[in-house]
Amino acid sequence: MSKQQGPLDLGTLRGTIAVVTGAGNNGIGWGIAQHAAGLGMHVVVVDLHEALVRQAEARLRERFSDVEIMGFAADVTQPETLEACLLSIQTAWPDRRIGAVFANAGVIFNRTILKSTVEEWATTMNVNVLGVVNTIKAFVPTLRENDEPSVICTTASIGGLVRGDGGGAAYQASKHAVVALSESLSFELAARSPQVRVHVLCPCIVQSALGTTSAVNAGVARGDIDAAELAPQTLGGSGLAMQTERHAEQVFDHIAAGRFYMITDNVRPYVDHDYPFDGLGIVRERFENMMELQLDNSDAWATGSNGHPSAILKGPMWQELKRRAAASDSDASQ
Ligand SMILES: NC(=O)c1ccc[n+]([C@@H]2O[C@H](COP(=O)([O-])OP(=O)(O)OC[C@H]3O[C@@H](n4cnc5c(N)ncnc54)[C@H](O)[C@@H]3O)[C@@H](O)[C@H]2O)c1
Repeated sequence: MSKQQGPLDLGTLRGTIAVVTGAGNNGIGWGIAQHAAGLGMHVVVVDLHEALVRQAEARLRERFSDVEIMGFAADVTQPETLEACLLSIQTAWPDRRIGAVFANAGVIFNRTILKSTVEEWATTMNVNVLGVVNTIKAFVPTLRENDEPSVICTTASIGGLVRGDGGGAAYQASKHAVVALSESLSFELAARSPQVRVHVLCPCIVQSALGTTSAVNAGVARGDIDAAELAPQTLGGSGLAMQTERHAEQVFDHIAAGRFYMITDNVRPYVDHDYPFDGLGIVRERFENMMELQLDNSDAWATGSNGHPSAILKGPMWQELKRRAAASDSDASQ
């Protein structure tokens, strides 16, 4: 095992700075930002729009008075905005070091290849892949300069580890790329900078408004929505999804354990039910297919609850959701 990957005493991060991109809404980044502040880290919330980061900054300050909070509006597709963010941090807090960077910003446009637009593909690749690369390039050189342990965590998805299926082709392709580039980063840093600990976060289902925030940001870019009026998006997702704060606990438990592939499944103690997503089981199916040199696309005949065939939305959690939907349909028809 590389020195990058042994257990980490999270106490060593206390008093350092956590930078979290895509933390301006109520999703995964917001949960990580809160958890980091709870661990005694000073937090920099990065998101696309000034209105969102100011609100996130204020909400965090209200909850955590013993750490410092900074909001910074940056577009992860624009490297210079991330460089400006680093400079702002170094100017505001010259005596503090960055202990963790979460390259978490992302978008989703859930459409088939044939129905999606090339613009949706370009935005997905720009934010989900190049945004992560830009964040790494902006912050990792600074992490390497310090001998103390630090964390660079990219956000991919369980969708980046399993077979592409019938719906979110651009999203899954981008997340496969994030997994591969994070593996590459681990190799690049392992020998010369093992104190910089590389992780790839592969969440299963966490409450968030990702589809909505992606549509809202696209609306702002088109000029249809006024960015000054934005407020954090309300949580969506099924009743079996993980709450963001409890998801963040699992993220930091994986970091403490030194796990590279941080698959955050919908399992106890992070949820209050016994219907896991079974991310690992679905990953295993893909590798079994590869061992046989054949893609099992038999699920293409089974339409999932989201209306398109899926090789992913099939574990105990989705079976239970389907059962509940059928029970409520039958109650409604009686
Ligand atoms: N929610 C889930 O179940 C789930 C599962 C797997 C992976 N993920 C991944 O988790 C990450 C966070 O998503 P979430 O579900 O918490 O939704 P979210 O909408 O709360 O987070 C995405 C954030 O990224 C920001 N963003 C988008 N484009 C940006 C840009 N160019 N520059 C800066 N910020 C930008 C958005 O404004 C938003 O705040 C994403 O990478 C997503 O793909 C989520």
